Amino acid sequence: MSDTVEVSDLASHVGAEIVIRGWVESTRAHGKVAFLDVRDGTGVVQGVVIKKEVADEVWERHATLTLETSVAVEGIVRGEPRAPGGHELTVTGLKILGGSDDYPIQPKDHGVDFLLDQRHLWLRSRVQWAGLKVRAEVEQAIHDFFYQRGFVRIDAPILTGAIGEHAGSLFETDYFGEKAYLAQTGQLYAEAAAAAFRSIYTFGPTFRAEKSKTRRHLTEFWMVEPEVAFMDSEGSMRLQEEFVSYLVERALERCQEELKMLERDTSKLETVRPPFPRLNYTDAVARLRELGSDLEWGSDLGAPDEVALTEGLDRPLFVFNYPREAKAFYMKENPADPRTFLCNDCLAPEGYGEIIGGSQREDDLERLRAGISSQGLPEEVYSWYLDLRRYGTFPHSGFGLGVERTVAWITGRPHVRELIPFPRLMNRLRP
Ligand code: 4AD
Ligand code: MG
Repeated sequence: MSDTVEVSDLASHVGAEIVIRGWVESTRAHGKVAFLDVRDGTGVVQGVVIKKEVADEVWERHATLTLETSVAVEGIVRGEPRAPGGHELTVTGLKILGGSDDYPIQPKDHGVDFLLDQRHLWLRSRVQWAGLKVRAEVEQAIHDFFYQRGFVRIDAPILTGAIGEHAGSLFETDYFGEKAYLAQTGQLYAEAAAAAFRSIYTFGPTFRAEKSKTRRHLTEFWMVEPEVAFMDSEGSMRLQEEFVSYLVERALERCQEELKMLERDTSKLETVRPPFPRLNYTDAVARLRELGSDLEWGSDLGAPDEVALTEGLDRPLFVFNYPREAKAFYMKENPADPRTFLCNDCLAPEGYGEIIGGSQREDDLERLRAGISSQGLPEEVYSWYLDLRRYGTFPHSGFGLGVERTVAWITGRPHVRELIPFPRLMNRLRP
């Protein structure tokens, strides 16, 4: 057989006889002409089999093909403007590599629970493929953005002895007789690293034993967490708006085909650029109450509140300086209103809500101690973290952006579970 090439590379082989290795997505026959769509991971190409031009066994083999059979298809590449990738293959040979009887996912509507049970196979379908390609591009863009700005990537531990956010949603495990948790955040370690490298970011999986079944909660999700020495809360918001705009721009620039497959209205993304509007928490509560909410000052915003605040916006919104009782122990007290922290959330429009949580960190040793004890956390395990305030304390800020929520918004998919290859949800540990 001829050389194997990838579907994405067909343009450089027009007129040549080549082989595509992949999986059968569909077959059809009309009298003496038959078709097969072959997907090789880089794209899909249509093969045309003309009965009188191929060996009998090729024609007969085509008739036996079932969904997801793996094949090597030999053929001549033709430019075909009407075909999806602009090319088709005039088939000259066909080998079956691996059969596929009774493939569970058929071209009909399956319930999403069924599809999630079949996630290892569902990954092959077009919408899932496109969504995860956008995720991969966004992840690469995350690294490029920080690399270009001289940030050092620091890998934070996943097994940790200190609760990173709050005691309510921990996965606990036994660590040789000691209690350990799966990290809810890499932030505390990011803060230590900021004193060594100034501008750093962590990137990795984080874990929350959330007992909520919503479209924006996973129990395992990926977070990027920059932390910068001598950056205040305002500086952090400026970094966030540049960062989020860059991620969107990269997806628009390099994922045109994928966004089209996802039927994403990209005009809604083209307007995403700095500056993002800013609204302080107290004004946000007032606005929500005008809209009929009975939200009390002091409570965190819920998903419906975030949707209401971002209604009609053409870019994300910052809500800043939340009340103490709504947020975590490590945030810096707002000197202008000590009932609040110097912090912000970044809320994506179109109903997606919070994609970033960030803050300036409490850099005063005694106030941080008080924060730890007021939330009922054990001070002993934070002694190393308190050292960062004992030895050359410094103003610093950082934030965490959730990869799946961000990619769900960029792709316009309704649920975060589709934007991670193997989602972990309250009721789902398999596959
Ligand atoms: O707001 P969070 O809890 O902030 C932190 O963890 C800080 N330590 C970050 C920092 O300042 N370094 O989480 C940050 C983001 C959220 O805005 C959201 O995008 C995402 O992480 N996130 C989740 N994504 C999916 N499923 C969940 N259960 C999530 N919880 C948070
Ligand atoms: Mg948050």
